[in-house]
Amino acid sequence: MQKRRVGILISGRGSNMQALVTAMRQPGFPAEPVVVLSNRPDAEGLEWARAQGIPAPAIDHKAYANRMAFEARVHQALLDAKVDLICNAGFMRMLTGGFVDRWLNRHLNIHPSLLPAFPGLQTHQRVLDQGALITGCSVHFIRTEMDAGPIVAQTAVPVMPDDTADTLAARVLAAEHKLYPHALHLVASGAVTIAGERVVMTPPIGKVPTLMWPPLA
Ligand code: GAR
Repeated sequence: MQKRRVGILISGRGSNMQALVTAMRQPGFPAEPVVVLSNRPDAEGLEWARAQGIPAPAIDHKAYANRMAFEARVHQALLDAKVDLICNAGFMRMLTGGFVDRWLNRHLNIHPSLLPAFPGLQTHQRVLDQGALITGCSVHFIRTEMDAGPIVAQTAVPVMPDDTADTLAARVLAAEHKLYPHALHLVASGAVTIAGERVVMTPPIGKVPTLMWPPLA
């Protein structure tokens, strides 16, 4: 099977990018990393990607007159690398409808909450402030609305009574590193289609036990 060519967009640390690249390098994975792009030249993840032999240029959004000009450059870099699928991995720029439409249903994002709850920034602090007992992470196809679009996969993560935003973020991040490669595998292998803004899996997923936290005694 022809491997899907993946471009990864980052803005910082890039730990999800590392999880994706590491997974894609396993034998039999139906996708390969071909380029990593960052809108921030100082993103820590760029060095790691380059050390892996992956082209990883920075496209500094501040160097462009407007969003459209920045996105045109990103789009061209993705075309030059013959990308089939984009994975946003901590990419913190909103994208305009023009860019979203060009990559519609070929563009994934990971967000550290159980969407559609808690989109946006300061996610973990808002989860704590609201007293939610379960949070998690979601991989979804990108739409113009922030952290919204057809959901491919989610993991539930418990909120502990003594959590801070940092301890909760760390627990969710560990789940993200497992979820994102799993979701990419599903998409790249052709197991995912979109019908009416919902993801349909082929073959269908069987019945699984309900997730509940705290567990029943
Ligand atoms: C991750 O927790 C990711 O889910 C989040 O940014 C972090 C990036 O970490 N993304 C969003 O909040 C998108 N709205 P990383 O750079 O180590 O992957």
